[in-house]
Amino acid sequence: MGRGFFINKTLAIAGVILAAGALATIIALSVVYSQAKAKNQEVQPTNGGTSPTTTPSTPTNPWDHYRLPDSLSPVSYNITLWPRLEANVATGLYVFTGQSAVVFECRKSTDLIIIHSNKLNLTLVNGHHARLTGLDGAVPPAIIKSWLQPVTQFLVIQLDGELQTGKQYELYSDFTGELADDLGGFYRSEYFVGATKKVVATTQMQPVHARKAFPCFDEPALKAVFHVTLLHPHGTVALANGMNLAPVNVTVNGQDVTRTSFEATPIMSTYLLAFVVSEFDFIRSPEGEKYLIRIWARKQAIAEGQGNYALEKTGPILEFFEKYYDTVYPLPKSDQIALPDFGAGAMENWGLITYRETALLFNNESSSNADKEWIATVISHELAHMWFGNLVTMRWWNDLWLNEGFATYVSYLGANSAEPSWNYTDLIVMKEVYKVMSVDALASSHPLSTREQDIMQPAQISELFDSITYSKAPAVLRMLSEFLTEPVFAKGLSTYLDTFKYGNTVYQDLWKHLQMAADSTPGLNLPASIEDIMNRWILQMGFPLVSIDTAKGTITQNHFLLDPNSTVDRPSEFRYEWIVPIKWIKSGTEQTPFWLQTKTDTHLPLKTSGSDWVLVNTKVSGYFRVNYDLVNWERLLTQLNTSHEVIPVINRAQIIDDAFNLARAKTVSTTLALRTTLYLQEEREYMPWETADRNLGYFFLMFDRSEVFGPMQAYLKKQVTPLFNHFEMITGNWTTIPENHLDQYSQVRAISLACSSGVPGCDALTTSWFQAWMKTPEKNPIPANLRQTVYCRALAAGGVVEWDFAWTRYQEATVASEADKLMYGLACTKVPWLLKRYLNYCLDPERIRKQDATFTMVYIAGNVVGQPLAWDFVRANWNHLFNDYGGGSISFGRLIEGITRRFSSEFELNELQKFIKDNSDVGFGSASQAVDQAVERTKANIKWVAENKDDVFKWFSDNSQTI
Ligand SMILES: *[C@@H]1O[C@H](CO)[C@@H](O)[C@H](O)[C@H]1NC(C)=O
Ligand SMILES: *[C@@H]1O[C@H](CO)[C@@H](O)[C@H](O)[C@H]1NC(C)=O
Ligand SMILES: *[C@@H]1O[C@H](CO)[C@@H](O)[C@H](O)[C@H]1NC(C)=O
Ligand SMILES: *[C@@H]1O[C@H](CO)[C@@H](O)[C@H](O)[C@H]1NC(C)=O
Ligand SMILES: [Zn+2]
Repeated sequence: MGRGFFINKTLAIAGVILAAGALATIIALSVVYSQAKAKNQEVQPTNGGTSPTTTPSTPTNPWDHYRLPDSLSPVSYNITLWPRLEANVATGLYVFTGQSAVVFECRKSTDLIIIHSNKLNLTLVNGHHARLTGLDGAVPPAIIKSWLQPVTQFLVIQLDGELQTGKQYELYSDFTGELADDLGGFYRSEYFVGATKKVVATTQMQPVHARKAFPCFDEPALKAVFHVTLLHPHGTVALANGMNLAPVNVTVNGQDVTRTSFEATPIMSTYLLAFVVSEFDFIRSPEGEKYLIRIWARKQAIAEGQGNYALEKTGPILEFFEKYYDTVYPLPKSDQIALPDFGAGAMENWGLITYRETALLFNNESSSNADKEWIATVISHELAHMWFGNLVTMRWWNDLWLNEGFATYVSYLGANSAEPSWNYTDLIVMKEVYKVMSVDALASSHPLSTREQDIMQPAQISELFDSITYSKAPAVLRMLSEFLTEPVFAKGLSTYLDTFKYGNTVYQDLWKHLQMAADSTPGLNLPASIEDIMNRWILQMGFPLVSIDTAKGTITQNHFLLDPNSTVDRPSEFRYEWIVPIKWIKSGTEQTPFWLQTKTDTHLPLKTSGSDWVLVNTKVSGYFRVNYDLVNWERLLTQLNTSHEVIPVINRAQIIDDAFNLARAKTVSTTLALRTTLYLQEEREYMPWETADRNLGYFFLMFDRSEVFGPMQAYLKKQVTPLFNHFEMITGNWTTIPENHLDQYSQVRAISLACSSGVPGCDALTTSWFQAWMKTPEKNPIPANLRQTVYCRALAAGGVVEWDFAWTRYQEATVASEADKLMYGLACTKVPWLLKRYLNYCLDPERIRKQDATFTMVYIAGNVVGQPLAWDFVRANWNHLFNDYGGGSISFGRLIEGITRRFSSEFELNELQKFIKDNSDVGFGSASQAVDQAVERTKANIKWVAENKDDVFKWFSDNSQTI
């Protein structure tokens, strides 16, 4: 799945708190979210209430296993589906009907047919759920009985004799299913054109929902060819993975409908299927272009040109990947469609990619540069899957990390090729590496790779769609690509794709092909095989802290834990040691790289004298943190404070981020970390400010309800004032937009931090923009990049009149990204009853789409006034949330994380533990891990606040005076 697949919650929250980084927030949201979606979809326990993640003892009946037996293998499916876009008058339900015939081959003789089927109402034929025929003269045994196993989601058919090895049979079934608004399987999305409600029938099959659309062998390795036909109302258009053939009008059961058939798919996995029936319009690439690309969306969105950016970038990105993978695009067309309701950010269905509107549609008047970046990133991620994931597929879900990590890593390369002026590839450090390190430094983290036998049940599969999968995997793949060099990496990739096309793999297959590429390249000097090196990064959780002693010239590694007192109860065969590539700089000059292969080593060039300093992990290409002896830290600080440009931008960000995290772990003092931010008065670049903003965001979370807040605000104000003045000057008093993409982000941050810290003139600026808009609602004068921040500041400063104005604009918004900005801004008010009312709206899908409910609640919790309200609200409504929103619309993990982030007192810890106890009967489903992490984080926060509060208060007080 796409980001939307991965949103960055951390950013989002810091954004609300500091009213900063708002744009980045959104971006992050979409992506992370994407992943989270998947999670959401399986929050319901499948076994009637007990924890879905407990592995049962090995059952004796094959239908009680969650995995299919290996006796049958599908060859092709012939599927006809007919979604009804109007509710049934008698029941009020939306339904679809269908027929499916699957041809399968018998691999091992058996008298049982076990096939996935979930929530389908199968029509009985002669008392049985399906009909069996033999092909090419095979004689089918008679069906003795058939039944459904809802827990394991199977249809089971008992035969009176054996199916013959090597023979093919066809199983036919006829069924009805609900076209629910649950964002999973074949589901419905709704939107309004004027007062008319429009219904779209669409799908989300990953990971295990194809079985909700038709009976199928629903495992990724059971690939087959799919022949699809859709019946749909006149005036609608039907799309699927294959190219649509000319529609014909037919009468079925006395109803006039259109029938659209599709070209057969290549051999592929069930989770990549997609079907959509809508009244959407499209734009396409010109005749004669290399690829047939079509962008589909609501008619109004297409008419307004919202699909143009996606259309413009898709071709170049496809071309980039074709070259990069050295493999032609495997399909005759690429459809991409923007859906009003979509759980994840996007989904890489082969040939028909589905998106949230915000991940595909761009409006050149109201969308920001962050919106554009998000679109380019998500498109790139999904297109990367067309080869890696779709053409070659993981054998089982335990290797999801490779599929998603890979797509995420190369999405940076693809987006960079589409927008070369953005300096986009380096941003992976901000958006993935540092983001996931905060999770991966907890004792409750987990390794990237999971054993196949540990992932069985749907909830276990869903739980894999987390930030370790989406962000750590690209971080370690990037490190691998850096030490192999990109041409070697790409070469291994290309032979891997060629060898396994239309098939399935395990991650070791990729290592093997990369090793072959490495072996044929002289001069790489790897210290061990790729498998040896990489196993340490994927089979053990966490990452090393590399410590340098420049007096002795020694280098040491230790497992880095944010809480040094936490116990790691997960053993590792590698004893938490890694083989670490070391790239480094001495006093501004790049040095010869080397490898750290043992716990501790001496590398004499690291020894320094005079004012020389050492900086390890150039461009943060390695997935680790770095500490130094205090003398070297002081020299680095001196360099920052005298001429910071000598240190590369990305490493300036690194110094800040490493120092703050080391301080959290009590490896360096908190004041040392704070001192890395002193030079920011001179800093104008995006990345250092971004890391400082995020790290200070933690201080705000911990202290914005205490007396530390005042001096902290004063310090921030002092530091950000030069940045604010700089952008005021270079933008002609905010009348122009900075040229550079990252400068545009910095401009937004300058305003958000300046306003939240009380820089004179800032709130007046945002409020005057907002007031001007209130005077002319039809013409919004606020620059698109600044809107999210301006909305937030103006609503924080305003009352019910401003809030209601923004709410009306939210409801009327026809551009999804504009609606998102308003949704965020509405959470910024300081008026408790408005926040309370907004929380209530979250459970009213007529007001806030289910797909947005989690975000909204998390945004509200990010506001210091909203925090306790959101916590009370979620506690009071947990049962309802869990049962009514469990089908895929709420990311419970994200929600728990969002509402508990500020927890830092014994009282809050007790409340959290009571909440867990009180709801043990309802359960936490896919949020179970998030709940554990929330407890661990709260305990760490309590300790941190107790140990640091006095020092922090004093430091901010001493350093907030302007000289
Ligand atoms: C199908 O019927 C509709 C409604 O009568 C008509 O508008 C459309 O042109 C017909 N399509 C074909 C392919 O005949
Ligand atoms: C925005 O798009 C519209 C329609 O495609 C176009 O007419 C207009 O010139 C564009 N405006 C800008 C500022 O690019
Ligand atoms: C961005 O890329 C350009 C051209 O590749 C380069 O000159 C510039 O220094 C880069 N900026 C940053 C902040 O890395
Ligand atoms: C910038 O604009 C504001 C509001 O229009 C005005 O009060 C201020 O004087 C302007 N500053 C400069 C330097 O032009
Ligand atoms: Zn993906």
